[in-house]
Amino acid sequence: MAQTPVKVTVTGAAGQIGYALLFRIASGQLLGADVPVTLSLLEIPQAVKAAEGTAMELDDCAFPLLRGIEITDDPNVAFDGANVALLVGAMPRKAGMERGDLLEANGGIFGPQGKAINDHAADDIRVLVVGNPANTNALIAQQHAPDVPAERFTAMTRLDHNRALSQLAAKLQVPVTEIKKMTIWGNHSATQYPDLFHTEVGGKIAAELVDEAWLRDTFIPTVAKRGAAIIEARGASSAASAANAAIDHVYDWVNGTEWTSAAIPSDGSYGVPEGLISSFPVVSRNGKWEIVQGLEIDAFSRERIDASVRELEEERDAVRQLGLI
Ligand code: NAD
Ligand code: LMR
Repeated sequence: MAQTPVKVTVTGAAGQIGYALLFRIASGQLLGADVPVTLSLLEIPQAVKAAEGTAMELDDCAFPLLRGIEITDDPNVAFDGANVALLVGAMPRKAGMERGDLLEANGGIFGPQGKAINDHAADDIRVLVVGNPANTNALIAQQHAPDVPAERFTAMTRLDHNRALSQLAAKLQVPVTEIKKMTIWGNHSATQYPDLFHTEVGGKIAAELVDEAWLRDTFIPTVAKRGAAIIEARGASSAASAANAAIDHVYDWVNGTEWTSAAIPSDGSYGVPEGLISSFPVVSRNGKWEIVQGLEIDAFSRERIDASVRELEEERDAVRQLGLI
């Protein structure tokens, strides 16, 4: 019997991440080489025409797994029956904008999208928020979707994870495949904490293979500020690497994986207040993320995890005060 296609909704589909993402989804890299998909592209009215152009190019690839494309500016249509939602479109920070303004503008996007997901998505909906501030945007969407299990709302720190793998591999002159148990903790922001105290390289703890000054003064800030460095170099934020990380996150969520990093709702583990959408060391089993338990956290790591979690609490409190959640 023919397999029912999986409906994947991508918001901000005409943007630069959208352009790097859609072709990979349609080619089977998001869900698997034997899983047919339909794509729903959500854009703001001014960008619908550009999304139509991308759809024409998708058609022109004649992807065997792509069974349909829909383009809309209505979230209720875009999320109708969606199985996977990639929330990429967001309001970028503009000159003179305070953090509160940015959170408010994004609340106006992620609140209604969360409600549309609540009202129209398929029962197995999985949501990945990429648009910044990703963790708090995910929280806003989740809070508008009371009928969807809370753990279906996640935010992307896989790009930070992949950046950390790559930086460490270059330092130790090993292939990235030699590195196991990398972890990003906290917020997708400059306060994030890439943790080498549980990371293993050839069976040894990575923190013991590098000097402390490199770990503290080079590795952590390079990973945490890589997004800004890309903007400085390209004149635009990361796009292909962000799309790649979104593919990694969803593929692993659906198909299972050993240790990686994802921002998921906290269950209180490691002192992260319950409900905050924070990055943790995770595995995926039976289609669900699970936080790796039982890790010892020393004072160096504790201080950095706490700082990033504090920032997440401040963002949550700010959106609460604005009445967005
Ligand atoms: P972009 O400006 O090229 O594209 C964003 C698109 O979103 C635009 O086409 C815009 O029209 C659309 N959009 C805006 N509001 C929308 C709405 N309400 N509904 C549907 N679409 C809407 O930006 P980009 O480079 O593709 O980046 C998108 C977001 O991803 C940004 O917020 C960026 O900061 C973030 N990002 C996150 C990570 C991460 O690791 N989490 C990495 C890179 C970029
Ligand atoms: C990134 O990590 O590359 C982005 O989140 C940077 C940004 O501000 O868009």
